[in-house]
Amino acid sequence: MDCGDEARRAAELLVNSSYSIAFTGAGVSTESGIPDFRGPNGLWRRFDPRMAGVEYFLGDPRGFWAFYSARFKSMLSAKPNAAHLALAELERMGLIKAVITQNVDGLHSAAGSARVIEVHGSSKSVRCSRCGARAPFVDALKSYEETGEPPRCSCGGIYRPDVVLFGEPVVRLGEALDEARRSDLALVVGSSLTVHPAAEIPLLVKEGGGSLLVINMEPTEYDDLADVVMNCPAGRALESVLRESRRIIDSRP
Ligand code: APR
Repeated sequence: MDCGDEARRAAELLVNSSYSIAFTGAGVSTESGIPDFRGPNGLWRRFDPRMAGVEYFLGDPRGFWAFYSARFKSMLSAKPNAAHLALAELERMGLIKAVITQNVDGLHSAAGSARVIEVHGSSKSVRCSRCGARAPFVDALKSYEETGEPPRCSCGGIYRPDVVLFGEPVVRLGEALDEARRSDLALVVGSSLTVHPAAEIPLLVKEGGGSLLVINMEPTEYDDLADVVMNCPAGRALESVLRESRRIIDSRP
């Protein structure tokens, strides 16, 4: 699919919406070199998803730190790709009001998006599992690489990444749902839409009578509900939607 026609349709809906949000998943960052979870090269095709569980952290903090420190360290050098940059530009144009993301890589903010709601937390900080104190991930990583031991807080508790693990409540969900309730369009980019409750967010927009656009390389759980589906790489698809949106706006009297 060259996504050209779909990009025009998506742009028409976007330009004519009054309050649109983007909802993104790991697929928006694969073009920045960060593997997703359930795509062809996804993490959960190579590792047991229980490694993202809080029980794993509690049962084997060493194994947990070995797994996550590598993934989060790679995020430190990742750069925003065309998809992140296009979403930031759509926000500057007033066409996207917020990005709600399941990602913890910080690339939407790095690309210039101002309103970003990270419902699965952030890889940029760690949190003490005993007293809850936070610290920069880079400091904890330095300690981990120097000692080979999971880093500890001054209270003696072990630090853990400040991300939502399986079995834990998502963060800023209320804020994200408020955005969805006021939206008349949800633009899903790079998510299989299989993890709840996050996946309810774009669904709420559709159930509220809004439009649902999906940009994803593979079919998603909500394709049959979507007004537009673009099975194209996120960077190329969003650049097309941005280009078409500008063309529509410039052609207005
Ligand atoms: N362009 C478009 N789509 C892409 C691209 C790309 N360049 N790369 C991958 N995809 C698609 C994949 O086909 C896949 O369907 O992105 C989707 C990513 O889905 P998942 O890997 O399931 O990621 P996500 O939906 O974000 O997972 C949700 O699961 O493990 C938890 O906490 C983790 O936040 C994550 C949550």
